[in-house]
Amino acid sequence: MKRVLVTGGAGFVGSNFIRMMAAHHPDWRIINLDALTYAGSTDNLKGLSGDYAFVRGDIADSACVTALFGQYAFDYVVNFAAETHVDRSIASPQDFIRTDVLGTHTLLEAVREQGVARYVQISTDEVYGSVAAGAFAEDSPLRPSSPYAASKAAGGLVVQSFYRTYGTPVVVTRSSNNYGPWQYPEKIIPLSITNAIDDQALPMYGDGLNVRDWLHVEDNCAAIDLVLHRGEVGEVYNIGGGQEATNLAVTEAILARLHKDRGLIRFVADRPGHDRRYAVTCDKLKALGWTPSVAFAEGLARTVDWYIAHSEWWRRIKSGEWRAYYARHYAELEEPRT
Ligand code: NAD
Ligand code: TYD
Repeated sequence: MKRVLVTGGAGFVGSNFIRMMAAHHPDWRIINLDALTYAGSTDNLKGLSGDYAFVRGDIADSACVTALFGQYAFDYVVNFAAETHVDRSIASPQDFIRTDVLGTHTLLEAVREQGVARYVQISTDEVYGSVAAGAFAEDSPLRPSSPYAASKAAGGLVVQSFYRTYGTPVVVTRSSNNYGPWQYPEKIIPLSITNAIDDQALPMYGDGLNVRDWLHVEDNCAAIDLVLHRGEVGEVYNIGGGQEATNLAVTEAILARLHKDRGLIRFVADRPGHDRRYAVTCDKLKALGWTPSVAFAEGLARTVDWYIAHSEWWRRIKSGEWRAYYARHYAELEEPRT
């Protein structure tokens, strides 16, 4: 039996990870520590069976973290907890620094004190910044553009420093853009799907030709499970889907699946500091035996169908905090066009 702390497990990737791990490792005792910010909900794990417990708490609250580590002798810690939306980080970076940097450090202190077998830091390919051609490897320089990417880079560097300084057994993953079920409808894919279902405009930043490398969340979770068990301590592993697409191509595919008109796409002002393209090499991970299994066209179709089937879930979100955020952030959609 392994005791596993998953932080941020009520969010998109974390909840998919917990479901997959509960199925793959029925001998695990999984503790999910999540602050339940706007992005997290226990609804995302409804119906989960097995040895699972939810604890509401903040990874930056050292009293809470220390008490939890005092209660359980964790074997593994996987840190998903973060503020994650680039646009929100541009509007207000403070929470990003607090959770993604200070929260990570708070967890690391508890990990060092207790001496867990493995700590996995979930980071992002956005720490490398934009790449015009080719792809970044794990030793490429970090040139984050947004406060989100900068806070993830800083948190990840603190993690690596704990390995070099104290020998803490850490592994860092840097994955490309995930998509799939249970993603909060502020990121481009779930936002576009849910807006299109309701015949609402699909906001498109700039010229719509920015490129992202899409990775199905199940492939990311399988990779994280692999590096947790077989990754080399102190190392960084890129996780890329190898499936690049422009934002326009992604939204057009969504509209086609829903039999909706391309006229729903609405070009709006560009995001400040908008990275043009992300791409990573993942030879290190592939050498451990991982390869992505979900083709983007098939995964996107499945995701659209999932949102059609789970409208109660996202309609509840869209009737809450989301509304004020959307009205504030996309105010220009409401303005008369000249
Ligand atoms: P998400 O926004 O859906 O979920 C984040 C979760 O963290 C939420 O449940 C939230 O309540 C929780 N949380 C936030 N602050 C917290 C705090 N202080 N203490 C405890 N819990 C807190 O994010 P996601 O898309 O699931 O991303 C998970 C992780 O994966 C993040 O670290 C993110 O940087 C990384 N990542 C995500 C993607 C992606 O495409 N989604 C890509 C690469 C890396
Ligand atoms: P997003 O889903 O926010 O992920 P990230 O910025 O972390 O890659 O955005 C993905 C791409 O979609 C990015 O190039 C910005 C663009 N985008 C839009 O064009 N319109 C939108 O309303 C959003 C949220 C994103």
